[in-house]
Amino acid sequence: MSVSALVAVTGAEGFIGSHLVEALVADGHRVRAMVQYNSFSSFGWLEDLPEEVMEHVEVVLGDVRDPGSVQGLVAGAETVYHLAALIAIPYSYRAPHSYVETNVTGTLNVLEAVRHQGIPRLVHTSTSETYGTARTVPITEDHPINTQSPYAASKAGGDRLADSYHASFGLPVVTLRPFNTFGPRQSMRAVIPTVIGQVAAGQRAITLGDLRPTRDFSYVKDTVAAFRAVGTAPAAAVLGRTFNSGTGEEISIGDLVTLIGKLMDTDLEVTEEAERVRPANSEVMRLVCDSSRLRAATGWAPAHTLEQGLADTIAFFRDPANLGRYKTGIYNV
Ligand SMILES: NC(=O)c1ccc[n+]([C@@H]2O[C@H](COP(=O)([O-])OP(=O)(O)OC[C@H]3O[C@@H](n4cnc5c(N)ncnc54)[C@H](O)[C@@H]3O)[C@@H](O)[C@H]2O)c1
Repeated sequence: MSVSALVAVTGAEGFIGSHLVEALVADGHRVRAMVQYNSFSSFGWLEDLPEEVMEHVEVVLGDVRDPGSVQGLVAGAETVYHLAALIAIPYSYRAPHSYVETNVTGTLNVLEAVRHQGIPRLVHTSTSETYGTARTVPITEDHPINTQSPYAASKAGGDRLADSYHASFGLPVVTLRPFNTFGPRQSMRAVIPTVIGQVAAGQRAITLGDLRPTRDFSYVKDTVAAFRAVGTAPAAAVLGRTFNSGTGEEISIGDLVTLIGKLMDTDLEVTEEAERVRPANSEVMRLVCDSSRLRAATGWAPAHTLEQGLADTIAFFRDPANLGRYKTGIYNV
């Protein structure tokens, strides 16, 4: 890939997408970034990126549900990173149709655009939620798919379409399946920003959902490095394959809260709030990643410990300019 190659990103204004855009520009790329059309002309987290980054970024307002806007986005790109999705599990109980439209039909539109324009590589984004509660640990890519929420089902639908386009049309697609990711700019729908944000806002009594599930948390820069690894590895090593990214370490939500309290030097009182507890069969109780396939194919390895990532995330939320963009007093669905 030439140094100034054009790369297209969907979901560019989101948490992981905005970090990926920064990394792509740092690597010398021009980026065409899809930001979901909205009436506020908001570019989401891209608005926080420095001017010297944004001068290499062409923002395109659009929607992955609209085939035409996806065709325009990918035109001339050497690589397409498809991250756009509806991601919140609780909201997927309320609005499942929109999840299918965005995560399944939206992905179909991206696959079609890449196919018809002969784009050399598509990186499709899956999620560890597609595995459901671990039946064997650590979870390899051969673990059964068991979708316990409409969100997980819609993501698995997109994954299956991506696999089918590789099988049917030889589409040059690689799927990255990240385990839970955290860091600056993450929304308060996720547990780490929920805890850190509430503490940074001066609360000592933290309200959460179930404290027992375990997760494998990656710092966002490591997840972005995994995207770049599958986006740049030799085609024969990655195309047509799915790769987990994660650390291989698990921690329960309860222990995570204790750790954050320690790092923020605060004694926390945690209350379980019924509204935040998921239906029993929908809660994924255990996720821990085996990323050996990704490591072997690309040489990728995580470079940050949980504590290092949390320290950066705490610093971000302690900055009043950042904290002011969040609603710490409500349950963010
Ligand atoms: N955060 C995690 O822990 C995690 C873990 C595994 C996988 N993922 C996947 O990573 C990707 C990015 O997630 P994130 O955590 O950055 O979430 P996010 O919500 O911050 O980013 C998703 C982006 O997609 C955009 N989007 C939604 N609907 C759209 C549409 N119809 N058209 C165009 N854009 C649309 C949103 O505006 C948002 O910016 C998603 O595909 C998600 O499933 C996230």
